[in-house]
Amino acid sequence: MAKIHSLFVCGQCGYEAHKWLGRCPGCGAWNSFSEERFDSRGSSQGRQRREAVPTRLADVEVQAATRVATRISELDRVLGGGIVPGSLVLVGGEPGIGKSTLLLQVLGNLCRELRVLLVSGEESAAQVKLRADRLLQNVGPVEMLAETDVDAVLAAVRKSKPDLIVVDSVQTLFSGEISSVPGSVSQVREVAGRFMRMAKEDGVSVFLVGHVTKEGALAGPRVLEHLVDTVLQFEGDRNLAYRVLRSVKNRFGSTNEIGVFEMRESGLQTVDDPSALFLEDGQRSCGSAILAALEGSRALLIEVQALVAGSGMAYPKLVGTGIDRGRLAMIVAVLSRRAGLHLSGSDVFVNVAGGMRVEEPAADLAVALAIASAHRDSPLRGQTACFGELSLTGDLRFCVGAERRLDEAAKMGVGAVVLPEKNAGAIGAMNGVQLLPAGSLSAALSHVF
Ligand SMILES: Nc1ncnc2c1ncn2[C@@H]1O[C@H](COP(=O)(O)OP(=O)(O)OP(=O)(O)O)[C@@H](O)[C@H]1O
Ligand SMILES: [Mg+2]
Repeated sequence: MAKIHSLFVCGQCGYEAHKWLGRCPGCGAWNSFSEERFDSRGSSQGRQRREAVPTRLADVEVQAATRVATRISELDRVLGGGIVPGSLVLVGGEPGIGKSTLLLQVLGNLCRELRVLLVSGEESAAQVKLRADRLLQNVGPVEMLAETDVDAVLAAVRKSKPDLIVVDSVQTLFSGEISSVPGSVSQVREVAGRFMRMAKEDGVSVFLVGHVTKEGALAGPRVLEHLVDTVLQFEGDRNLAYRVLRSVKNRFGSTNEIGVFEMRESGLQTVDDPSALFLEDGQRSCGSAILAALEGSRALLIEVQALVAGSGMAYPKLVGTGIDRGRLAMIVAVLSRRAGLHLSGSDVFVNVAGGMRVEEPAADLAVALAIASAHRDSPLRGQTACFGELSLTGDLRFCVGAERRLDEAAKMGVGAVVLPEKNAGAIGAMNGVQLLPAGSLSAALSHVF
């Protein structure tokens, strides 16, 4: 007989404990445990024994993976060329960022060549219709289910046999077999697991929408990230018009690929020339540096801004938007110790323009130059861009993708690029852009002031 017992589960990472804990030993999150109830189905005695049979890899027949292009170029790029049949894709992002919008556009584009189904546990059919009227010229044969019971959804799916399903959102669906509330770790895991099995068995492609907490974690379960094939993350400031879709994990393509969109009344429009979007026009002012960034396979220019102000506080502030705080603290320390900038006693603010997030170490130099420019109250010389990873010794380290970064700089009319000496040595010369090689942070500073 099924026995019900309860466990305490961390909402961030899925760590399980028998009693409530204030801090998760798994991921360090505070106050993240909630009680969940499980049915244990007795011992394995009653269950039918089944023997698994291994297959020789050489004998496995593979059908050429025919990807389905969504005809939204930026999304196809992030997916690695289109939707892989039978794949499970998790699309995460903060409320209101555009998850439902993008996926409805995908359904609208594909509904004439594939059987598509929208499962909405969040919005009524009428709400979805209103959005569809705004986004799609012709709603076409898009079908929808306003349903939250996953068993009912899967039964309907088995009957209508769609090729593509969008589930909006995984947190609103529940399975009657589990007694915890919808959105809890065990429910979300179960629901996603059911869709996973269906995707693999029937070759249906599934997009799961997942809500994201303020801290950027997928609410409930990071565990989902392991389960699914691809994780796409919507980023950007929802108050600004543009949004960045990033592939955090992709079993069928490269990760860290980004797609850039602009939110309009007619839906998310692809932005083909993102550098123009992230660079503000005109003369560079004090505290601004241009980073020649590489996001996945794509190079783009991003403006990094800094402000240094005398602090009246015992502990000066160090605030970074769009950049990791630990990395920022390291750059400030290297600037003080290796380049003689006296920043102690000052508040330092750094902002990546346009709501972008930069994670690559090659952004270090741009952050350092922006802070130095703000500190000196003097703009960087001319139209100069830069990239380079800082080491704790103040040296600049080799970065990948230098050619692509330089090509983008040339295309955008940047006159010169400060880059690590080792990269410059490997390249030699470049058409249209002056190379300013620097072995150290001090050398880079002397190039731009
Ligand atoms: N008429 C409109 N004109 C322009 N933009 C609109 C309009 N209506 C909605 N939007 C944009 O669409 C966004 C909401 O998009 P969407 O519903 O796809 O987000 P979501 O990520 O699915 O949010 P949630 O997590 O709440 O479901 C709004 O934040 C707004 O920017
Ligand atoms: Mg939505």
